[in-house]
Amino acid sequence: MQYTTLGRTGVRVSTMGLGCGGPSRVGRSTGKSEAEQIGIVQQALHAGVNFIDTAESYQTEAIVGKAIQGRRRDQIVISTKKSTGKEPLTPQLVQEGVEASLTRLGTDYIDVYHLHGVRPEQYEPLLTTVGPTLQKLQQQGKIRFIGITELTNNDPGHTMLQRALQDDLWDVMMVGFNLLNQSARARVLVEAQAKEVGILVMFAVRLALSRAERLQEVIQDLVTKGEIDPTEFELVDPLGFLLQTGGAVSLPDAAYRFCRDEPGTHVVLVGTGNPDHLQENIASFDRPPLTASAVARVKQLFRNVYSVSGQ
Ligand SMILES: NC(=O)c1ccc[n+]([C@@H]2O[C@H](COP(=O)([O-])OP(=O)(O)OC[C@H]3O[C@@H](n4cnc5c(N)ncnc54)[C@H](OP(=O)(O)O)[C@@H]3O)[C@@H](O)[C@H]2O)c1
Repeated sequence: MQYTTLGRTGVRVSTMGLGCGGPSRVGRSTGKSEAEQIGIVQQALHAGVNFIDTAESYQTEAIVGKAIQGRRRDQIVISTKKSTGKEPLTPQLVQEGVEASLTRLGTDYIDVYHLHGVRPEQYEPLLTTVGPTLQKLQQQGKIRFIGITELTNNDPGHTMLQRALQDDLWDVMMVGFNLLNQSARARVLVEAQAKEVGILVMFAVRLALSRAERLQEVIQDLVTKGEIDPTEFELVDPLGFLLQTGGAVSLPDAAYRFCRDEPGTHVVLVGTGNPDHLQENIASFDRPPLTASAVARVKQLFRNVYSVSGQ
């Protein structure tokens, strides 16, 4: 496993993080037992992954809590989130949210506490109402660092995070970035590097890069929207070159390594409920970069894409 420093937090993190949400929720959404879900988290920890992302809305915080029992807390970086979707957030709801997360996680501090899936129009009100609460919780030692995550499916062009980068509150940001939509490079990562914001990547693989039929639909959608040029592609197997000459063993392998090696990213979140997939993904993070020519071609082919998440 490779490690890096999560921006200005100074925290040492594995470049692979385990995401306990997404379509699989470490197996909760795919019919796996509690023991199997705990097993996924422990398998990742055993391989040297030290960054675990969860959220109150995923209903996997208790799984993480059980998986880390008996381990040294200071060797695990826990990231969790307060939902922002339903009722308007208040300072009291955030304080109660932190306490409830701490209980479910079985710990007395959270390393990174995020506002979860913030829509562009929610940003200013949330900053005003609960920004000071997050700082207070940080001063109390209940959370070490303050984070924010975008709602990538609704905001694939990163409007909210571009606004958030104008404020100094956020130590860490979680952004959607992948082979298909690289718009975060110019819109988020350049400024985030200048401000030393820790960057967590989500949507590296998601559905479009793990299911061939979904990739075809997304490619067709991008052709229709005029964001890619069909004459530049082998439409039958649009990303086949990554396996043929790019050094990748599979599309998820290429997708995770592409994100890992993007300047300005620190942790790439991997979501799975399948122990075999997890083992394959751990191996991906130990592989060298994709070939420079394959990376250049991916950048060229998808240079104008900003409107799809890869879902
Ligand atoms: N707004 C937010 O804050 C937000 C939104 C989305 C996600 N997140 C965070 O980001 C994390 C990562 O997102 P994600 O869970 O969607 O992760 P992802 O790694 O981009 O994609 C996960 C999907 O890919 C499949 N997959 C993974 N490895 C595979 C492999 N080797 N071969 C074939 N299929 C594979 C998984 O299915 P299997 O289970 O079958 O492997 C799952 O359907 C989440 O878990 C969550 O922690 C945050």
